[in-house]
Amino acid sequence: MHLAAVMAMREVGKTPWYDAHFLCFYEAAKVYLAKVRPDAIDSFVEGFAPLHTPRDFQVREVEALFSEAELEPIRTVVRDLSSRELERHELEHFGRHVVHDHPYFVDLQLQLTALVSELAGQELEPGYNFLSLYGNMGRCGLHMDQPVSMYTLDICIEQDVEWPIWFSELVDWPDREILANFDEEAIKRQLRFTPYVLKPGNAILFSGSSQWHYRDAMPRPGFCHLLFFHYFPKGCLDLVESSNWPRLFDIPELEALIDVFRQTYPDAVDFKPSFA
Ligand SMILES: [Fe+2]
Repeated sequence: MHLAAVMAMREVGKTPWYDAHFLCFYEAAKVYLAKVRPDAIDSFVEGFAPLHTPRDFQVREVEALFSEAELEPIRTVVRDLSSRELERHELEHFGRHVVHDHPYFVDLQLQLTALVSELAGQELEPGYNFLSLYGNMGRCGLHMDQPVSMYTLDICIEQDVEWPIWFSELVDWPDREILANFDEEAIKRQLRFTPYVLKPGNAILFSGSSQWHYRDAMPRPGFCHLLFFHYFPKGCLDLVESSNWPRLFDIPELEALIDVFRQTYPDAVDFKPSFA
């Protein structure tokens, strides 16, 4: 079984973008099950139906989610962050400091669950969140998020530059072939992308696990402080956390694949993303 797991991982290959661990593991699981539990593939694939974004979902813009007065305590939290709290691992590739799951924002995210559920058209529960403090080297390459971030509410806190985020039309989850031949420019050419500009206090809801998205390099030196609140369908925690899959699907053979995956990607603990 261990060998089959290694072979399946090799067939799918490396994660082509920073948030692709879930998809790579999902695709490897299908390859692996074809060898060790072919009887289980159909129910395994069908089990993920709740995590596929409904076809009629549309990006939702929320004007004045927060007033200037309501933004002030949020900005105070940001100003009061110590340098120790600022994560630096995305400075090189994204030009940003990040802070994951700050208690103030965990609470704020929870408060917004009902609103975001209404906007998304289905009942949701919060995943994780992070604060993104883009500096003048800000950029965000084309990618898709993991289903723990199936829906993202992106809120602009403060900025001195208008900086569009581009969303593709809704698409299926990228399959093995797309993962293996990931070509950012080809995807940008082949799909229709729409730019959206956020202003302080405004927010936008998108489906990051079914919409490619990116930001070009900042148009001029500036800064842009954003919150990203991630949500997934209520009751789907076992699906978004893949360590639960062997039990959830009653396929104990998947444990061997999880072991191999963890050895290959030690940072992808439980496939919870460190980015989004
Ligand atoms: Fe993302």
